[in-house]
This record gives sequence, C-alpha cells and structure tokens, in this order.
Amino acid sequence: MRLHTVRLELRPGRPDAWPMRQIADWDPLRGFVPPFEHLDPARERLTMCVDLLPVAPRELVPLRRRILSAVRRREMRDSLVTINGVNDWVMPAENIERQVERSGLLAKVGRSDPFFRVQILISASSPSRERARELVERTYAAWEQFSGQNYLGAMGTPLLGWWFLGSNAPWRRSWFDLRSRTGLHTGRRLLTARELAGLLKPWTRQCEAPIVLRGERELPVPELAASTGMVICEVKGRPVALADEDARYHVHAIAPTGKGKSTLLASMVLARIERGLASIVIDPGLKGDVVRRDLLPRIPERDWERVVVLDPSRGRERPLGLNLLEAAAPEQHELIADQVTYVFRSLFQNSWGARMDDVMHTSLLTLLRRPGSTLCDLPQLLLDDETRRAWTRGLQDPLGLELFWREWSRLSESERNQRCGPILARLRTVLMRPTVRNLLGQSRSTFDLTRIVDEGGVLLVALPGGELGPGTSSLLGALLVARIWQAVQARSSRPEHERPDALLAIDEAHRVVRLPQLEEILVEARSLRLGLLLGHQHMGQLPADLKAAIGANVHTRIAFQAEQDAAELAAWMRPAGAADLAGLRQFEVAVRLCVAGHSEPAFIGMTRPPAPELGPDHASRLAAAALARWGRPRAEVEAEMLERYRGPAGSSEEEEWA
Ligand SMILES: Nc1ncnc2c1ncn2[C@@H]1O[C@H](COP(=O)(O)OP(=O)(O)OP(=O)(O)O)[C@@H](O)[C@H]1O
Ligand SMILES: [Mg+2]
Repeated sequence: MRLHTVRLELRPGRPDAWPMRQIADWDPLRGFVPPFEHLDPARERLTMCVDLLPVAPRELVPLRRRILSAVRRREMRDSLVTINGVNDWVMPAENIERQVERSGLLAKVGRSDPFFRVQILISASSPSRERARELVERTYAAWEQFSGQNYLGAMGTPLLGWWFLGSNAPWRRSWFDLRSRTGLHTGRRLLTARELAGLLKPWTRQCEAPIVLRGERELPVPELAASTGMVICEVKGRPVALADEDARYHVHAIAPTGKGKSTLLASMVLARIERGLASIVIDPGLKGDVVRRDLLPRIPERDWERVVVLDPSRGRERPLGLNLLEAAAPEQHELIADQVTYVFRSLFQNSWGARMDDVMHTSLLTLLRRPGSTLCDLPQLLLDDETRRAWTRGLQDPLGLELFWREWSRLSESERNQRCGPILARLRTVLMRPTVRNLLGQSRSTFDLTRIVDEGGVLLVALPGGELGPGTSSLLGALLVARIWQAVQARSSRPEHERPDALLAIDEAHRVVRLPQLEEILVEARSLRLGLLLGHQHMGQLPADLKAAIGANVHTRIAFQAEQDAAELAAWMRPAGAADLAGLRQFEVAVRLCVAGHSEPAFIGMTRPPAPELGPDHASRLAAAALARWGRPRAEVEAEMLERYRGPAGSSEEEEWA
C-alpha cells in the first residue's frame, strides 16, 4: 500500500515582540483531539512534534533588551504594521488601535519569563493524499486557539513554485524528516513560558507520550478482572465485570447527560437480580429512566416475586405503605429522629432554624414511643391539645420529653403557632400530595426493608421529579436511603458471614446526597456488605465533603466522556489523563476497576447497548403484579387515615380531611 505523506512546519508569523494568546482557563489539547480521534490507526499516521529549546540565561538579557527597545522605538520590523508610520497620519483610528496593541507587546517582554525557541512539525501519512492533507490541516487549525497579536503560520507555502520553496520541495522534505526524526532544532522565533503554559499543560502530565496518538496508549485491562458478574464494558470483545465481593467497595459513575449512565447502572443491577442478590434502586431522575425505561421491561418473570415497585405516582390506586417511624427498637429512636430531622433541614436549609430542629426532633421522639404513629401525626401532636395530652401521657422521661411538652402546653396559642408554623408549612408541602400522604401515612409498612436487604429482595423506587416535584422526590429519596441504612446497620450485631451482599444503586445521586450518613455509609457499608452504586452528571453536583469521601472510599470508578471535568476527574482515573477522558467516544468509558479490594489502574472499554426488552407489556404487567402484592387499595388506606384523624370529639375536623 502506497502511503502519501504531507508535512507542515509552523512558526510564529510575526516578529518576537508580538505575543501569542495566553490560555489559562481551558485545556487547549481538546482542540487537537478531533483529528487524532478520526484517525484510522491501522493505515494512517499523524504526528505533531513541538520542539522547544530554552534560551540560555546569558542570551536572555540582550534578547529581551533588543525586543524592548524595538517596541520603545516603535520599530516593530513587521511588514504588516509600523507604529507611527506614515499611514497613521491619514488613519488616526488605526494609530490608536496600535497604541493599545503596544501595551500587549510590553506585556510579553516586560515580565521576566524565560524564552524558548520553538519548532512545530506536523506530518500525516495516509493511502490518500487528500486525507493526509486534511489531517494536517485539521491539526493546524487547532493551533488557531493560540492566535493573538501573534499567530502560528505555515512555513513553505509555495513562493517560487513548489519544486523550489514549497513545503513539498524535495530538499525541504528531507530537511523536515531529518529534524522530525532527530529533534534537530533550527527554530529562530521566540515564545515565553507564559505563552506556552497553556499549550504545554497537557504534555507535562504525560511526558512519556511525545506522540499523541489516540488508542495507541497502553491501558491494559487488569489481569485478574472478572468476566462474569456485573459487566461494565467490553475490551476487544472481552467482557470486563465487577465481582460481587468487589461491589462492596462501591461504584461511582459519572457522565454528562445522554452518555449511557442509566443504561449501565440498570444492566449492572439486572446482573445482580439475576443472581438472586438483594438490589435496591433509587431513581429520583426527572423521568424515572432507570426503573421505568430500563429495569421493568427486563426483569424476567421468575424474579417477579421478589420485586417491590415503589412508584408513588403510578401506584396511586394501590399505595404501598412506608412508615418511617415504625417498630424500631428503643435504641434506634434517637437515630431515626435525627435522620428524619436532618433530611428536612437539608431540604429546606435556607429557611430552617435551630428551634425548628428542636421541635421536630422532640415531636418525632415522642411519636416513636407510640407504636403505629406516622410522620402524618406530627401536625396533630403539635396543634391539638387533647390529642397531645393523650399521646404524651406516661412518657417516663421527666427531664427530656415531658419537660418539653409541659413547657409547650404553657405557651400561648400564638407562641405555639410561631414555633411550629414553619415546620407544619414545610411538612404540608410534602404531605399535601395524596400519593405521598398515602405512602408515609400508613401505620404499618406494607413491605419490609430488612427482609429485602437480607433475603435477596429487589426494591425499585421511581421518584420522577417531573411528576412528584423535585423537592418531594429528593425528600422521599433521602428518607428512603436513611431508612435503608437503618435496616443495614441492624446487621452489625450479626457475624460478618451472616450479612448477605446487598446493592444500593442511586441514579442522579446528587438529588438525594444531602444526607449526613452518606459519607458514613461509604466508610462503613463495606463491612456490613452493602455496596453503593452512585451515578450523576458532573463533579459540581457533589458537596465538598461528599466528593472527598467518594475520592477516598470508592474503589470502582467509571467515567464517560468528560469535557469540563476532565482535568479534575483525571486525578481519579490514573493513568488515564484529561486528554484520554476528553477523547472518549460515545458509550466508551474509562474504568478503574476494583479487583480483590484493590483499585486497579484505569483502562478504556465500550459499554454494552441495553439488553432487549422482554415483551411489549412486560413492564406494566410486572408493575401491576408488584402493586397487587405490596400495595393496598387506596380507599381502604384513606378510610383508615380518616378514622385516625377524626377529631377526638368526633366531628369537628371531619370536614378538613374529607
Ligand atoms: N453502549 C451503548 N450502545 C448503544 N446505545 C446505548 C449504549 N448505552 C446507552 N445507550 C443509549 O443511549 C441513550 C442514553 O442513555 P442513558 O439514558 O443511559 O444516558 P444517561 O447518561 O443516563 O443520561 P441522563 O444523564 O440524561 O440520564 C439511551 O437511549 C440508551 O439506550
Ligand atoms: Mg440517566
């Protein structure tokens, strides 16, 4: 096969005094990715050498002085512009423009930055000459980012006919190849370190790769990586999977929207379900993609018995029950009250004060003492004297709860309203929704989280923010995570081998991460055999301490193509660099896999497309079956609540609830 080679040398186009653009705030290498990305590595080759020769200190002073005095004397020795030349006489506006430019010139030499002589050589080989030329031109185009008052121009544009001076003239070709091969340096033009800083940034991180050729870099798959289990991606046709034991070290998947994160998350969860392991999915995304689109249509009928589907807006007519205050051992009361209060505080953080914390926490502790209470009892406890008297009788806590309620009963009505009004208003925004009220207001939960995590159950929670409202969706998500964590913590009294593996997958995790426990969970869940799988779009969504916790405790990291986060993520994805992350193709991932408890170096693979659906009405049949098993008729639930909240005198509050 005959290969055509096209060469191009670049040099600063104007004299040394003119500065190039200084790039500080983005990664210029991104501009170079496209030509390399579209390369066919089997037949084509594209190289770009940037040779720099530092100017020796003793030459530096005279050089700088020469440039400075040229600027001062306004002799720019530039064919394009002569400041204060004859033309300025007739074109004063341009003169002013040049005066402005001049301050830029002084900026280049006014600082004591080191100088480099620079030589940039681009060459491409391809079976088609046109294609080789296109590759060279696209690489050249990327240098445009550096154009300021100076720019990089192509050397050897034909002047006296290509055969003599053009870049394809035979003597030029061999001269170019010699320099490119040996690094022999003949550059005369100067650039400062500051001008080069932006351009050198990507290379300084990976100096060992002077030829940036995508796909050629060796990022091998860890030798002992599993190939069955939770398959993450394929590398050269070989599946690479996360072993069940290693899922305990948590997984973090990050990708801008539409890259395939939910699809990957769902396929990993499906693999768990298939092997009979406990799996919980919380999906507070706007549409509820993971549960509704990816999971329900793909869970085979034999597993349906284990599946609980919690989708409040779809299960309107057969609500499930989840009583947050149910049946806890007395030693758990504090923990539950803390967690629920914290979730509310973090959701309404801008308008939540210390006094509200106190009222909410005490009320929850009081309700927890009374079996069958629910979160919906809170208004009744705070507002209704008679109910309160009945519910706070015999608390046996003279210095704590009793004291509080005694003081409460002494407050005037308006003082009381002042203290609990804000809480009730916040609570109302949540409990006003019948779907949520029917879920949280049932005094007995209709499904048992402890059984789900201990007996290989499957809980699929769809909390579509678009239907429930984003606030309610994150609140429910956070309350559920808190509740699941309580169930898992209860395992700590059992020996380790009696704690079966469970997985908690949270898509759009940033919506529910405002939890005090999430960091605690990341640290402690492993020994309790709970693995976390967190997915979201970008680093900015994570609060600082959670980011640190993920950085320290998550052992499997998956990153799809990243733009803005590439540099930050690269620190987690070694040895893959920012350029590797920025250059990932659609559905391609960089993965740091945990193998036997150790986070292996990153490699790159291709995720799998979603598995085929199991039939057109599969999802709705599964949802209906799950609701029939775990839900209760809405009329029954509402009648029960009506009964409970009927005022003590029987009739006065009936209208309010009817
Ligand atoms: N490996 C793959 N091959 C082909 N198609 C895929 C692959 N992975 C995902 N897809 C498809 O890409 C689309 C987007 O995927 P997905 O919804 O999982 O993205 P996402 O990262 O979760 O986006 P968002 O952040 O918006 O939720 C889906 O239609 C999915 O079927
Ligand atoms: Mg998604």
